[in-house]
Amino acid sequence: MPSFSDILNRPTVFADRNVLSPHYVPSILPFRDKEIGKIMAAVSPALKGERPRNIFVYGKTGTGKTASVKHVAAKFESHTATARADAAGTAKSAAASSRAKTCYVNCRMYNSRYRVIQKIVKELLPSLDSMGFGLAMLYEKMMESVLTSGAHLIVVLDEVDMVKDLDDLLYTLTRANDELKQGGVSLIGISNKLTFKDQLDPRSRSSLCENEMVFAPYTANQLAAIIDQRVKTGFKPHTVEESAVNLAAALTASETGDARYALKLLMKSGEIADDRGIKKITDKEIEEARHTADTEVAFEAISTLPDHQQMVLLAVAHLAIDKGKNTRLTTGTADEDDSFLTSGEVYEEYCKQAKHHRKPRRSARWYREYLNDLEMLGLITTIESGAGMRGRTRLIRIGFPPADVKKIIEKNFSIIEGKD
Ligand SMILES: Nc1ncnc2c1ncn2[C@@H]1O[C@H](COP(=O)(O)OP(=O)(O)OP(=O)(O)O)[C@@H](O)[C@H]1O
Ligand SMILES: [Mg+2]
Repeated sequence: MPSFSDILNRPTVFADRNVLSPHYVPSILPFRDKEIGKIMAAVSPALKGERPRNIFVYGKTGTGKTASVKHVAAKFESHTATARADAAGTAKSAAASSRAKTCYVNCRMYNSRYRVIQKIVKELLPSLDSMGFGLAMLYEKMMESVLTSGAHLIVVLDEVDMVKDLDDLLYTLTRANDELKQGGVSLIGISNKLTFKDQLDPRSRSSLCENEMVFAPYTANQLAAIIDQRVKTGFKPHTVEESAVNLAAALTASETGDARYALKLLMKSGEIADDRGIKKITDKEIEEARHTADTEVAFEAISTLPDHQQMVLLAVAHLAIDKGKNTRLTTGTADEDDSFLTSGEVYEEYCKQAKHHRKPRRSARWYREYLNDLEMLGLITTIESGAGMRGRTRLIRIGFPPADVKKIIEKNFSIIEGKD
């Protein structure tokens, strides 16, 4: 049996794994100078005691939106800290600067107006125990704090599309500005979903999007440079071949341009190398890492899917598992066609699942939309059957091991249903 020292002393290609974690924000963000500069300019009025316009930052996943905005927020906070220290703010601008503040809210976690406002109050008044406060009380506390300090508050709403009652939240924050005689609240909304804006009330939309900014996906060369920066600090010298870096960048660029995925490839390839006692990461490890990373990404995607899409996928998984069993029992070998399910049988199973989870089932029209969504995510593949025995129908095959898919979805449902 190994001891902890044995484990800790195992040879590794990593110098500092933290550097590769998705939460790590590097002090320098290459290729985002322009975007960072624009956000800084946009929020700077708050440092002079004026209300900045709201900003909406949009871009595909992994384009550095969160990292860039956090970078600006950190610079902003260090500026205000200096201003506070500066002769207790004798100059007017120093006084205004010292009262400005940023507040970062991850809306995946704080996904309603109530939770967002509660989080803001917690940031403004850390010692206040707001447990059990109603919305009106929280709002009052927030207003009181902003008004008495005269603060200009910049609230970052990351993944803003996750807020269930966003219209209400935007209305409340806009109203706050109308009511405040001193200080103010402005927003930086971040999202990777552009279409969510269409569902917003036109007033909310125009208030959220006073100033829009788009982050473009990284090119292969940019990704290679981003990876290289992490290789230098995250890995021991000479443990990653240059061609492996280029391959990771090229693979990522050809799919999404998502820097998070590129870094994931790197982390996984390091783990594979360590597991096997390999001293250098080559193309081969990157290729293998791609496999595991793809499965992981798909599984993460499942967990964030809306209920009905999950139930359709669960139906596919159930039937695929059953079919696997039956095939083995009856014919012994599964020919190509046997791995496909018909659209009709999946719909029937979905209806059963909906009943089981006590959700009203959706019509066949919605069901077809759900199939499209699942296919877009690579979770299933579908083909049109020829006009054969069953007539023309859509045939469905699951993209990942059905038992694993089933496990994830059932776990999600048990968490959701357990909470209700
Ligand atoms: N220009 C860059 N230089 C170095 N690292 C970067 C850069 N851009 C992004 N990253 C890294 O890539 C990962 C993803 O970036 P980030 O979280 O900012 O993406 P995002 O645009 O917010 O994506 P999502 O829409 O999925 O939230 C992070 O680990 C981040 O540190
Ligand atoms: Mg983000």
